[in-house]
Amino acid sequence: SDMFRSASALIVVLLVASVLGNSTPQSIKISLTEDQASMQVTWYTDSEGSSPVVQFDSKGFDPSSLSASLIQAKTVEFTEKLWSGYTNYATISQLSANTVYYYAVGDQKTGVWSELFNFTTGAMSADVVPFNFVTYGDMGEGVDNSTVHNVINRLDSLQMVLHVGDIAYADLQSGNEGKYGNQTTWNMFLEEITPIATRIPYMVCPGNHDIFDGVSSNYQNSFMMPQGSSGGNWYSFDYNGVHFVGISSETDYSSTSPQIAWLESELKSFRKANPTGWLIAFSHRPYYCSSDFGWCKDDQSRYALQKTVEPLFYQYNVDLFIAGHSHEYERFLPAYQNEVAGTYEDPKGPVSIVIGTAGCQEGLNPSFQEPAPSISSGVRLLTTGFGQVSVINSTHIQWQFIKDNTNEILDDIYFTKGTF
Ligand SMILES: *[C@@H]1O[C@H](CO)[C@@H](O)[C@H](O)[C@H]1NC(C)=O
Ligand SMILES: *[C@@H]1O[C@H](CO)[C@@H](O)[C@H](O)[C@H]1NC(C)=O
Ligand SMILES: *[C@@H]1O[C@H](CO)[C@@H](O)[C@H](O)[C@H]1NC(C)=O
Ligand SMILES: *[C@@H]1O[C@H](CO)[C@@H](O)[C@H](O)[C@H]1NC(C)=O
Ligand SMILES: [Fe+2]
Repeated sequence: SDMFRSASALIVVLLVASVLGNSTPQSIKISLTEDQASMQVTWYTDSEGSSPVVQFDSKGFDPSSLSASLIQAKTVEFTEKLWSGYTNYATISQLSANTVYYYAVGDQKTGVWSELFNFTTGAMSADVVPFNFVTYGDMGEGVDNSTVHNVINRLDSLQMVLHVGDIAYADLQSGNEGKYGNQTTWNMFLEEITPIATRIPYMVCPGNHDIFDGVSSNYQNSFMMPQGSSGGNWYSFDYNGVHFVGISSETDYSSTSPQIAWLESELKSFRKANPTGWLIAFSHRPYYCSSDFGWCKDDQSRYALQKTVEPLFYQYNVDLFIAGHSHEYERFLPAYQNEVAGTYEDPKGPVSIVIGTAGCQEGLNPSFQEPAPSISSGVRLLTTGFGQVSVINSTHIQWQFIKDNTNEILDDIYFTKGTF
C-alpha cells in the first residue's frame, strides 16, 4: 500500500541520515608527533564509524574518488560520564621535508568525506631552520574570538600553535553537568579552531579548566598529544631544530612524582645529545607571575612547582618557559631562584613569559602587585593578545606580544641562546 511504501521510504531516509550523521567528521585537527617525519590527524564523530580513514597525497585529489593513499584510523570512545562520541586518529608517516600534503578524513564504508585540507611539513633537521609560531593560554569558547580570528589571518606565516592550557572553559556551566564538563561547549571550541588546526599543528597542554571531576579524558582523547605520559599530559617533540617540552601543572609535580622523574630524564637526554640546542618548555601554570591573582600571591602550590621544576630548567638550560593561568601578559628577565641571571644578550637562566591573555570569559586580572618583582622586565600588561615567536637562527629568538584585535605589537624583544 501507499502507507507501507511511504513508511519504508521514511525508514530508508532515517537510516541514511543516521549513517551520515554518525560518521560525519567534526573538529578535524593535526598535531606533531615524536617523529618529525609524521603528522597525526584526529577528528570527532558522534558514533563509531565502520571504517575511519585518512586519505593523503602530495597533490590535490577528490576524496570521493579514493585515489590517494589510505590510512586506517583508530577510534577511541569518550568514557567520561555524560559525554559521548568518538575520536578517530591516524598518523601519516614517512613524509618528506618542506612539502605540501593534501588530506581528507572520513569513512571508507559510508563514503562520507571531509573537504580537502593541506599542511606543509617542517624541515626535519637537527639544525635550526627559521620558523614562527603563536602561543597563548586561557581562551575558552564564544566570548572573545579575536585571537582565533587574528591567527587565521596570519596562517600563511605560521608553522604551529602552542595553546598552553585552559582550552575551552567547558567546565563553567550551571547544573550537574558542570562537574563533568559541558561537551557542547568543548565541541564548539574545537569547531572554532578548525580553520587553524586543520592547517598547522595545534599543540596543547592541560589547564585546570580542562579537567572535570579530576579526570582529563576529554583533553587526552580530543588532542592525543605525543605519548610522553599515557594521555599526553606531558611530552616532548622537535620542530626545525628546536626541542619543546610540555608539562602538566594539573598533575602531581612533587619531587618523587612520575612526571618529575620523566622531566629530569627527558631534559638530561636531550641536553646530552644537544648541548647548545634551543629548548622551550611550556605548562599551564607559571612559577613566576605577579598579578593580583591567588596563584601569583603567597601560594604554596606555586612555590612547590618552582621548587621541583625550576632547578631542572636551570640545570638543563631551558631557554624559554611559556605559561598562562594568570590572565595577564608578563615578561621576566632571565632568572633563577627569584634573582636576575644574566641579560637577554647573555642569559644565565630561563626567560619566563606569562601569556594567559587569549580572551576567556573570566576576563583579565584586575591589577599587578606593587612593586614589581626584581626579576620583572618592567613589561606587565592587562590586555588580550597572543605571543608570536620567531626562531631566527641558532643564537636568536624574537618574541612579540600582539594585541589580538588590532595587530599592534605591544612588546618586541630578541634574546640570545644562553649557556648556564
Ligand atoms: C591550503 O589550504 C588553504 C585553506 O583552505 C588554502 O588557502 C591554500 O591555498 C591551500 N594551499 C595549497 C598549496 O593548496
Ligand atoms: C567571531 O565572532 C563573531 C561574532 O559572533 C563572528 O561574526 C565571527 O565570524 C567570529 N569569527 C571567527 C573567526 O570565529
Ligand atoms: C552547555 O553549553 C551549551 C552551549 O554553550 C549551553 O547551551 C548549555 O546550556 C550548557 N549546559 C549546561 C548544563 O550548562
Ligand atoms: C642570528 O640572527 C641575528 C639577528 O638577525 C644576527 O644578529 C646573528 O648574527 C645571527 N647569528 C647567526 C649565527 O647566524
Ligand atoms: Fe588556569
